[in-house]
Amino acid sequence: MEAMFEHLQRARLATTPTPLEQGPVIAGGARLWVKRDDLTGLGGGGNKARKLDFLCGDALAVGARALVTVGAAQSNHCRMTAAAGARLGMEVHLVLSGDEPDVATGNQLLSVLFGAQLHFTGAAQSHWGELEIARELLTGELSGAGLAPYSIPIGGSTAVGALGYAAAFIEMLDQFDASGIEPSTVVFTSSSGGTHAGLLAGRAAAVAAGRTVPAIVAIGVAKGVNIGLPNIADLANQTLDLMALTDVRIDPVDVEVDTRWIGDDYAVPTTAGDNAVCWAAANGGWLCDRTYSGKGLSGALGLAEEGRFADEDIVFIHTGGWPALFSADGVPA
Ligand SMILES: Cc1ncc(COP(=O)(O)O)c(C=O)c1O
Repeated sequence: MEAMFEHLQRARLATTPTPLEQGPVIAGGARLWVKRDDLTGLGGGGNKARKLDFLCGDALAVGARALVTVGAAQSNHCRMTAAAGARLGMEVHLVLSGDEPDVATGNQLLSVLFGAQLHFTGAAQSHWGELEIARELLTGELSGAGLAPYSIPIGGSTAVGALGYAAAFIEMLDQFDASGIEPSTVVFTSSSGGTHAGLLAGRAAAVAAGRTVPAIVAIGVAKGVNIGLPNIADLANQTLDLMALTDVRIDPVDVEVDTRWIGDDYAVPTTAGDNAVCWAAANGGWLCDRTYSGKGLSGALGLAEEGRFADEDIVFIHTGGWPALFSADGVPA
């Protein structure tokens, strides 16, 4: 099924396949497997490496010389875009929420190390619309200066970026076969929706090819982040179009986003999320963060406690985020 991606441009930035590790048995007797997308290699790893593989392939194909993107102050996507620019010899501009700190920490520190230019907007963490306007303005300025920028929306969640997770879904199917399992469900952390759309596109493509596939459950950790982006099913269908599967479509009933684990807001820690960060470290040596993978894992563990999985294999995609542990208040007290 990998042939579905052969006609598409890739910058080969992600180290794949990432491992599929067997974890402990959790509530209800569910057997937890962890798909280690925190180990995608690029600039400390995480889910964005797979999206940037296709996004930067596209950027190179159109002759871009700079990358511009946007995110929250501790954006993993921005950090990995900075690393992609370093690998490809492209100038990188990052539009971030908040004000310039006295000392850069966590993802910001790494972005600076990768040579990116950081543009602080003063915007509040989850004022996504304001951040996107700032990205568009900066893109216009850089175009005017002749830099030929390739401008990437928040989270890299375009259909091109989502291709990365369509390919990841197919990659997981091969690993399920190799491990002799048929998981009932794949759970992962979602914010801007590109990972989700890609997984759904990969799943639909696999169903069309006659495969038995798991359900996909997104644990939402941000509200309103995909303002201005198509909804998940539309984005997934656009991704299928790029895969030249225009007759395969998403069934909207397959789009499941569980938003009960966000807590008060994006990037505001929850007790369940912090417990999951500590549980992951103590039970698998897995490094999760308080904004993304910790809350996502709290959703997976919480669903198990509610009895959703019973005696089944389930997969949690660890989408990364560990550098934020080294930012202010990054580690649960
Ligand atoms: C560590 C981590 N996990 C999950 C996500 C969510 O991915 P998406 O924006 O594709 O929904 C992000 C996005 O920034 C992330 O940084």
